[in-house]
Amino acid sequence: MNVPAPGHATWPATGPGPVTVEPYWSSDTATLYKGDILAVLPALPADSVDAVIADPPYSSGGVSVAERKRSTRTKYVSGSVGDIAHENPDFPGDQRDQRSWTFWSTLWMSEALRLTKPGGSILVFTDWRQLPSTSDAMQAAGWTWRGVVNWVKPRGRSRPIRGGFWNQAEYCVWGVNGSIQKEYEVYLPGAIEARAPVGAARLHQTEKPVDPLLTTLVRVAPPGGVILDPFAGSGSTGVAAQLQGRRFTGIEITDHYARVAAERLSRPALAPDASVGPGQETTVGEPDEPDEPAQLFVPEPREGT
Ligand SMILES: C[S@@+](CC[C@H](N)C(=O)[O-])C[C@H]1O[C@@H](n2cnc3c(N)ncnc32)[C@H](O)[C@@H]1O
Repeated sequence: MNVPAPGHATWPATGPGPVTVEPYWSSDTATLYKGDILAVLPALPADSVDAVIADPPYSSGGVSVAERKRSTRTKYVSGSVGDIAHENPDFPGDQRDQRSWTFWSTLWMSEALRLTKPGGSILVFTDWRQLPSTSDAMQAAGWTWRGVVNWVKPRGRSRPIRGGFWNQAEYCVWGVNGSIQKEYEVYLPGAIEARAPVGAARLHQTEKPVDPLLTTLVRVAPPGGVILDPFAGSGSTGVAAQLQGRRFTGIEITDHYARVAAERLSRPALAPDASVGPGQETTVGEPDEPDEPAQLFVPEPREGT
């Protein structure tokens, strides 16, 4: 079989005739494509990836059409205006209703399965609202659902709910192509505490922390293995992959974030996200509750004893 050289993917696509996708940027250890995943994924070679780590648009943020259609900035960014997070541009694909999100997810997860070696893993970020849709789509696409890894946020960085529980976690739904490969021996934690970058270090509205979150997740692939992130955003997964000695293939649809990711991937050692300055605390990832203003946490007085 004629396998294309890395960085130049030509493959019989699922559509009519072969599709060729030129990389937007590449190095010895990373390749970035700019385009829609449904155009790029079919052009990549089967069995070429050791693990998929995907942070798709959640299409979350409210129960009504009007709430879901709000801009990604309104849904996912809080903190004071003037914070750098407000400068990061909106991104597309976040307004699907739950059923179309599930169908769309099944499409790209099916392609991701074709690209992944037998025994390789997929990890898909989601929030509590889309957790059931994510595991449904993953199984419908043919993956074996194996669990959920928790990204636990420090309490000062998450959202209290009056009368209920802090919204303190996002999730990575974990699936495997067939059965877990056991030759590469690794034991990874099921819960990882990490704070998202804020202030000047924040390059994307829903940026995921490189360390220790992504640097742990990429270890699901063996050293030297290839990690695919179909929704690269600012390139955080690619930075983590390179820091951990894995290779990286990313896809991003917007000009802005493709540029940011390429810039970051070209200097990964300098680029993990960084510091938190005073007064820059920002909630990341989970959408704001439209009707629930954030409340300061006040511990309940303990009873008795
Ligand atoms: C949740 S963000 C990922 C953020 C990333 N994890 C980071 O740390 O910067 C999702 C990204 O997927 C991109 N995207 C949305 N729809 C896409 C599509 N159909 N094909 C490729 N990329 C897409 C968006 O532009 C956005 O940057």
